Amino acid sequence: MNLIVQVMLFTCILSPWTCSPSPHKSTCEIKNAKADCSHMNLDGVPANLPNNITELDISHNRLKNLSSLYLYRNLMNIDASYNSLTIIENSLCLFLPHLQNLNVQHNEVYVIEEKHLKNCSHLTQLDLSDNRLKLHGEPFSALKSLKWLDVSRNKLTSAKLGTQPQLPNLVTLVLSGNAFSVLQKDDFSFLSNSSTFQVLVLSSQLFKKVESGCFQAISRLSVLVLDGSKLIPQFTSLLFEDLGGTALQSLSLKNTLQLTLSSTAFQGLEKSNITSLDLSENRITKIPDGTFQWFPRLESLSLEQNAIKHLTKNTFSGMGNLRKLNLHKALIKSRSSPLPVIEDFSFQPLEHLETLCMSKTAFRELTEHIFSRLPNLKTLDLSWSITGLKTITNRTFAALQDSPLLQTLNLTGMGINKLEPGAFSNLGNLTRLLLSYNFINQQLKGNEFAGLLNIKEIDLSLNQQSISLTNASFIFTSTLKSLNLARTLKGNLDFHPSPFRPLVNLTFLDLSNNNIANLNVGLLTELFNLKVLKMQHNNLARLWKTANPGGPVLFLKNCTKLSYLNLDYNGLDEIPYNALSGFSELRELSLRGNLLDKLHSFVFDELQSLKYLHLQKNLITSVQRVTFGVPLSNLTELYMDHNPFDCTCESILWFSGWLNKTNTSVPGFPQNYICNTPNAYFNQTVMHFDPLSCKDMMPFKALYILSSTAVLMLLFTSFLVHFQGWRLQFYWSLMVNHVLGSAKSRGVAEHRYSYDAYVIHSAEDRPWVERSLLQVEEDNFIFFLEHRDAIPGFSQIDTIIENMGQSRKIIFVITEKLLKDSWCRRFKAHHALHKRAQSASFSSHVLVLEEEPGKLGASTGNEPFIHME
Ligand SMILES: *[C@@H]1O[C@H](CO)[C@@H](O)[C@H](O)[C@H]1NC(C)=O
Ligand SMILES: *[C@@H]1O[C@H](CO)[C@@H](O)[C@H](O)[C@H]1NC(C)=O
Ligand SMILES: *[C@@H]1O[C@H](CO)[C@@H](O)[C@H](O)[C@H]1NC(C)=O
Ligand SMILES: *[C@@H]1O[C@H](CO)[C@@H](O)[C@H](O)[C@H]1NC(C)=O
Ligand SMILES: *[C@@H]1O[C@H](CO)[C@@H](O)[C@H](O)[C@H]1NC(C)=O
Ligand SMILES: *[C@@H]1O[C@H](CO)[C@@H](O)[C@H](O)[C@H]1NC(C)=O
Ligand SMILES: *[C@@H]1O[C@H](CO)[C@@H](O)[C@H](O)[C@H]1NC(C)=O
Ligand SMILES: *[C@@H]1O[C@H](CO)[C@@H](O)[C@H](O)[C@H]1NC(C)=O
Ligand SMILES: *[C@@H]1O[C@H](CO)[C@@H](O)[C@H](O)[C@H]1NC(C)=O
Ligand SMILES: *[C@@H]1O[C@H](CO)[C@@H](O)[C@H](O)[C@H]1NC(C)=O
Ligand SMILES: *[C@@H]1O[C@H](CO)[C@@H](O)[C@H](O)[C@H]1NC(C)=O
Repeated sequence: MNLIVQVMLFTCILSPWTCSPSPHKSTCEIKNAKADCSHMNLDGVPANLPNNITELDISHNRLKNLSSLYLYRNLMNIDASYNSLTIIENSLCLFLPHLQNLNVQHNEVYVIEEKHLKNCSHLTQLDLSDNRLKLHGEPFSALKSLKWLDVSRNKLTSAKLGTQPQLPNLVTLVLSGNAFSVLQKDDFSFLSNSSTFQVLVLSSQLFKKVESGCFQAISRLSVLVLDGSKLIPQFTSLLFEDLGGTALQSLSLKNTLQLTLSSTAFQGLEKSNITSLDLSENRITKIPDGTFQWFPRLESLSLEQNAIKHLTKNTFSGMGNLRKLNLHKALIKSRSSPLPVIEDFSFQPLEHLETLCMSKTAFRELTEHIFSRLPNLKTLDLSWSITGLKTITNRTFAALQDSPLLQTLNLTGMGINKLEPGAFSNLGNLTRLLLSYNFINQQLKGNEFAGLLNIKEIDLSLNQQSISLTNASFIFTSTLKSLNLARTLKGNLDFHPSPFRPLVNLTFLDLSNNNIANLNVGLLTELFNLKVLKMQHNNLARLWKTANPGGPVLFLKNCTKLSYLNLDYNGLDEIPYNALSGFSELRELSLRGNLLDKLHSFVFDELQSLKYLHLQKNLITSVQRVTFGVPLSNLTELYMDHNPFDCTCESILWFSGWLNKTNTSVPGFPQNYICNTPNAYFNQTVMHFDPLSCKDMMPFKALYILSSTAVLMLLFTSFLVHFQGWRLQFYWSLMVNHVLGSAKSRGVAEHRYSYDAYVIHSAEDRPWVERSLLQVEEDNFIFFLEHRDAIPGFSQIDTIIENMGQSRKIIFVITEKLLKDSWCRRFKAHHALHKRAQSASFSSHVLVLEEEPGKLGASTGNEPFIHME
């Protein structure tokens, strides 16, 4: 054991990559009818898979045979690559009658005979590459349905896979990387009955000789791929001669060491109808004039990744039919030699050219007539080309006035630093102008784009934040639909009127990464058709603050057709409550990396179409239904990770419930949804929040509210009674009196009373009584006051007895002085109480008015206490 570990350690030191943890899984993954048992270190096919599977990936294991596959009779596709199979069992296709696609690439299949594939008549695709095939007899003769056969890298010594005509439905044969270097006359005769045969791949071979007539049997061949083969000129001339009689349309000679081309190199192909030729990666330095004259029908030529030094006006002569020319990296700058040269009128022979790609080419100068006379040109791609072009003047592309159909001009990464007025004035049909990754440093006055009558897209992104706008910047481009100004502008857009005002049809606007801090409410108001607005990485926080002088700047107000809005990383800590109103078509809202915490309820309520919401990396603590109910209702994806969630019932209960049952995809959940508060949940995921803890709280909460209300009420009442009780009683008695008084007027038998009340007071309280009670008397009451109403001549006692009898009530004005008045105290009170007992049936009352003790004399403004019995 120790030894093994040591050996492993040793090999690890020698070659660390063999020791990286192996990606073995322990069970097969089953999805729909497909079982993935790859990378499992298996010796045999597992026997416990669903028996109706149709697709099985058993690659990267240690299988020696496919015996237990017979359990799965519905199998159509088997990937058994990277195993140790040495044989394809005779019975394989017998037991798997539906088998269509068998991949045994990278095994050790050796002898293969007719009987092995005997029953495989339904097989359409067979990959036997990277084995050690020894073909005996006619092994493929039974494969009546086979369309695609790959026997690459098997050290086969001949291209001849059989002697009898067979494989009637074969379309593609891949023979790459085998050991033969000669193509013999009858090599492909086994395909002579294959009427559908089209593609022959003979890559990475070392060819020496081709016998004439060898392609006769497969003259319907339309694609021949020789990529990576070493082709010596003797071979190619014979080959091309022989291909002349075929229907070949596409020839790929990528990386075939065609270092030098002679003008007659392709002469043999003159009779062919080739439309596509790929000569990329050949380190070609020189193309003699007339080299391509043999391809009058060629439509597509690729010279990608060569080292051509010079293009003249005859280089492409004879290719009047060419539609697409790919010169990506075809001319390159080398340290030792000067920049390659493209002469004026070099492309003139290509009168049907539609697409000219010159990306990453290097040439000395963009002279005035390089692109002259290309009447059908639609796309010109000069991106990242090295030309020394700095300023685009009204002459630079003047030659393109011969190309009225030009639609796309790709000037990405060309080191341009200035656009002069009228720079594109000839390009009336141009729809896309791509100017990103340049160094344009100027104020756009508008006339730079004059004449672009049909322009749809301008990309000025990544121009080092050195372009500034004016009101007129886009007055000539009102047809624009897409404008990209990302990382381009100097950060001020506070213009009246807005530079974007003419762009009524604009649907895409990118203003991201510009440090814009200053803009006004009118900036986007004319962009009624805007669908995509990107303003991430600016400085818009102030504009949406309530405290902003003049209030929040609602710059999105009229853009109600928006379907994508990005305001990431703007330092926003507030969203005005109506900032997003009317955005019923918004599908994606991104507010990542801001400082948002408390959001207004209902701020997202009009976003009924929202599908993607990004709020990660903010300061959101609480996710409540009032704010998030609408936007989360029908979401496809939510990103709200990396927020400091407050995992309390109040803040997170609704959200945790939503997360638990939603179908919305929430990437990063749960591991990136972490509680920050309270302590009990600190650094745990929101998933661990226990919603039951909130349920338990419910009855307690109700009880708490109930009891605290009761206590408060009690307190309030007792305070009220204590301090204001007399007042209540007073009003109560007044009310009662009023009712009784009106009863009297209603004629109830109360005529025996002459007075409503008999007032008992001490003599000293007389001023107060006159002042206070006589006021009341004026409204419907008649009081008996001794000093006023006593009939002179009657004794005091008779007066009292008589008149008390005629009074419905007796009012005591109880003050200290009354209590000291012994006459009063003893007699009047006694009589009064006595009388009350007598007349209880008349519901008479004794009212006791009490001046606040001791206060009466001193402060005449005080009101009396009134006691009613
Ligand atoms: C395969 O069979 C299983 C039950 O054995 C069944 O649940 C499944 O739907 C079947 N799948 C297909 C593609 O027929
Ligand atoms: C297939 O391989 C397994 C494991 O190597 C072996 O046990 C079994 O005998 C083999 N079956 C046949 C038919 O060779
Ligand atoms: C090339 O095309 C022409 C016209 O389409 C046809 O007549 C001719 O037979 C074709 N040549 C070959 C070799 O297929
Ligand atoms: C090009 O610009 C120059 C000035 O820079 C001007 O004199 C000339 O008329 C312009 N040519 C055209 C065709 O507009
Ligand atoms: C323009 O060139 C750039 C860089 O090569 C490339 O990424 C882009 O796809 C090109 N655009 C068009 C429309 O060809
Ligand atoms: C635009 O293209 C049309 C053909 O589609 C052509 O007739 C017209 O002259 C072109 N306009 C310009 C300004 O080149
Ligand atoms: C805007 O688009 C409409 C409809 O496609 C079109 O009729 C109108 O001319 C366009 N306006 C401008 C200024 O291009
Ligand atoms: C929004 O558009 C209307 C016209 O539909 C216009 O009257 C209004 O002024 C625009 N809003 C602002 C803030 O400019
Ligand atoms: C939710 O979105 C789907 C489309 O993604 C839509 O068909 C459905 O009507 C929407 N449901 C609601 C309630 O808006
Ligand atoms: C999630 O839902 C299940 C069943 O609906 C429930 O048992 C569980 O407590 C819920 N978990 C949370 C965190 O809400
Ligand atoms: C939070 O938990 C993770 C592991 O779950 C741990 O690595 C990390 O140190 C913890 N952070 C704090 C501040 O406790």
